[in-house]
Formats: sequence, C-alpha cells, structure tokens
Amino acid sequence: MKLETERLILRPFEDSDAENVYLYAKDPDVGPIAGWPPHKSIDESLEVIRNVLSGAEAYAVCMKSDNKAIGAIELKLNGYTDMTDRDNECELGYWLGKPFWGQGIIPEAVMELLRHAFEDIGMSKVWCGYYDGNVKSRRVQEKCGFTYQWTTPDVDVPLMNEIRIGHVSCFTKEEWEALQKIR
Ligand SMILES: CC(C)(COP(=O)(O)OP(=O)(O)OC[C@H]1O[C@@H](n2cnc3c(N)ncnc32)[C@H](O)[C@@H]1OP(=O)(O)O)[C@@H](O)C(=O)NCCC(=O)NCCS
Repeated sequence: MKLETERLILRPFEDSDAENVYLYAKDPDVGPIAGWPPHKSIDESLEVIRNVLSGAEAYAVCMKSDNKAIGAIELKLNGYTDMTDRDNECELGYWLGKPFWGQGIIPEAVMELLRHAFEDIGMSKVWCGYYDGNVKSRRVQEKCGFTYQWTTPDVDVPLMNEIRIGHVSCFTKEEWEALQKIR
C-alpha cells in the first residue's frame, strides 16, 4: 500500500533502498536513541529492510520530489509489539535521516498513519513510546496529539543490551474522530 501527504510518499521498502537506509541509519544519533545500533554496512541495511522493515504496515518515508527512502514509519500490529495483545491496537514507531530533522516531516507522516490506522485498517488505539531523554520524539508525540499514559522504569532494550526508562502515550479512535469534527 502507498500513502501520500502534502510533501511525502509513504511506501513499502524495496531492496534497492538499502544504500539510502545505510546512509541515514549508520548515524549514531538516529538508531541508539530509538533502541537499535547504527547500521555497519549496506548489507546490514538490506537485512533490516528484509527482516525488520518488512511488516504489513511498515513504510519508507520519501520526499515526493525523488521517492528516495529518508526514514521509516511503522504501525507494529499485534504479535509484533509488546505494547498490546489486541488485534485492534498497534504501536507506532519512526525514525528520520538527520539531514531532514526539524521540518515536521515525521509529524506529517504520523498524522497520515493515524488516519490510515483508524479509517482504513480498523484500529481503535495507537500506542507510541519513547525512551527517557528523547525530547525530539516526545515533541513529535505531543505535537501530533498523543496523550501521555505512564512511565515504566525498567524497559528491556535487547538490541542495545540496556535497561531504560520508557514513557508511553496513546491516541484513540474517539480522539481522532473528535479532531476531524473541529477541522
Ligand atoms: C524524532 C524524529 C523522528 C523527529 O522527526 P522530525 O521530522 O525532525 O520532527 P520535527 O521536525 O517535528 O522535530 C521534532 C523536534 O525535534 C527537535 N529538533 C528538530 N530539528 C532538530 C535538529 N536539527 N537537531 C536537534 N533537534 C532537532 C525539536 O525539538 C523539534 O521540536 P519542535 O517542533 O518543538 O521544535 C527524529 O528526530 C529522529 O529520527 N530521531 C532519532 C530516532 C528516534 O528518536 N526515533 C523515535 C524513537 S521513539
């Protein structure tokens, strides 16, 4: 499935995105704060494209101008997230290449994924989390209208071999419908 916003195309990843994914995912300021180590090679990025960014609702974030992958956004469905065990709930995750930070690109993609979650694929709640100290991700969730739920002191971050403090927020279908009425 392909989704579109004013500036962006959100589309499934392809093997040919590996070079671009590596370009941005090798940056130590991108992965570790989200819970995964920087990519070490184009081959590793290819493996991640095939095995991690391959979910039914995983999308490459691309500027319309060139359709190149500059980040990733995903609704992790039941079975692929530990935030819920319900079929009508999912977890939102995202990252963006550093050269593109600060232009509201991920918030724009998030609002389209929320629309898709509630209007196309029958979700009633979208969860989203960030690790303590990730102010940028907290801001994305605040700006998009997520509501803070709780903090967990000891979240396992297996790929980084760490325990972190995790903050959890969510967005409900009722909140989405209320937002449409005032728009
Ligand atoms: C979090 C992230 C996806 C935000 O994407 P984005 O499209 O840049 O989002 P925004 O443009 O709305 O910026 C969000 C906040 O980042 C901060 N920010 C923006 N540009 C920045 C820059 N160049 N350097 C440092 N911080 C910056 C600002 O605090 C901004 O909030 P503001 O709108 O109140 O000023 C991106 O920073 C990222 O990929 N970070 C690393 C991976 C990550 O944390 N993923 C989420 C895991 S929960």
